[in-house]
Amino acid sequence: MKKLVVKIENLDHFGRGIAKVNNMPIFVENSLIDEEVEIIVTKEKKNYMEGIVDKYIKTSPIRVVSKCPYYDNCGGCDLLHLSYEEQLKYKENKVKEIIKKFSDLECVNNIVGSKQFNYRNKITLQVNKDIGYFKKRTNDIIAIDKCLLVDDKINKIIVELKKIDVSKVNKIVIRVTNLESMVVFYGNISNKIELDVDTIIINDKIIKGNGYIKENINGLNFIISPTSFFQVNNIGMINIYNKVLEYIDGGNVLDLYCGTGTIGIYVSKKANNVLGIELNKEAIKDAQINKKLNNINNIDFISGDVGTVLSQKNFKADIVIVDPPRAGLDSNSINNIIKIKPNKIIYVSCDPVTLARDLNILKEHYDVLEITPFDMFGNTYHVECVSLLCLKNMR
Ligand SMILES: C[S@@+](CC[C@H](N)C(=O)[O-])C[C@H]1O[C@@H](n2cnc3c(N)ncnc32)[C@H](O)[C@@H]1O
Repeated sequence: MKKLVVKIENLDHFGRGIAKVNNMPIFVENSLIDEEVEIIVTKEKKNYMEGIVDKYIKTSPIRVVSKCPYYDNCGGCDLLHLSYEEQLKYKENKVKEIIKKFSDLECVNNIVGSKQFNYRNKITLQVNKDIGYFKKRTNDIIAIDKCLLVDDKINKIIVELKKIDVSKVNKIVIRVTNLESMVVFYGNISNKIELDVDTIIINDKIIKGNGYIKENINGLNFIISPTSFFQVNNIGMINIYNKVLEYIDGGNVLDLYCGTGTIGIYVSKKANNVLGIELNKEAIKDAQINKKLNNINNIDFISGDVGTVLSQKNFKADIVIVDPPRAGLDSNSINNIIKIKPNKIIYVSCDPVTLARDLNILKEHYDVLEITPFDMFGNTYHVECVSLLCLKNMR
């Protein structure tokens, strides 16, 4: 076992401390700038090493004691040793650094915070004798009784799940809304189970309820099916959607990567027409129902890959909203968006690195006016951004 004493010089984009020994970077979880730590080296590669702290020799004044008993082992959180205020500072700086480095832009606003605890409306629990999360860097399961990140309604359901036989189940997904709750079991379990939730699904079979749950966000109604994407933090979602809404000023809007149509429906009152495009057919079915539930007549949806759908027809749009997965926009989608030539692009991103990469391409044709970071996933290194781009020579 190799041990080293190191001084942390910086933080990386995954919230880990970076120290250097003979110019070789060493990444150390749960360590902060200026801390001196004795580490056990866990990985040694040609260009870098990784280590875990064995002993803190000097700690940082901004370190706080984690409120979670599972923090040392659980793979869920990365920043519980920082106050929420310091987490927000870290995320804002991280976005600024990434955007400068990969797109040479300096238009990042202050971060908009959300809620540090009890914000998640969905969790995936791993099951193997016990119910819990994956341990850091392994497929072993760490049993949990509750999680600080989730809505308390989810913690109550976990207590109930612990009373039933889940020995042949592999995975359990719990989703709750302001109105309802849903549990999906993957694996084998008796279909006579009793749980105080609105919908129970075993694999793809509905055992109780409608097979979906309803949500109400700022007076708008949505249904959510088990495999449809729905933002996991309601406060963060409303902050982001309000920012997008602020940028809408009429015209034809394309809502790309639209999921269950939430953004398009949210902004439809300020648009002439909205067209949503989404790969997941189940999400598109939800989107069609959501349109009817809210009596919205100026929105429609197409199911398919964004790049492929856009290349099949000459779409006209004044504003294009994109909200892609972490991988960002593929070249086919970017080229087609540039061809459509909207006056504005509103880019909602869940990964600042792919956002910076895509902005670096788009900035040839568009002025990137601002980028606002939003916290959606407190205690983790993740950060969302909304960016406004205007067609060059349009302003
Ligand atoms: C970050 S989510 C955004 C969903 C929605 N805008 C919202 O706020 O709830 C990304 C969505 O992109 C969809 N998606 C992933 N790859 C896609 C592709 N190639 N074409 C169309 N949609 C895709 C996913 O199914 C998912 O619903």
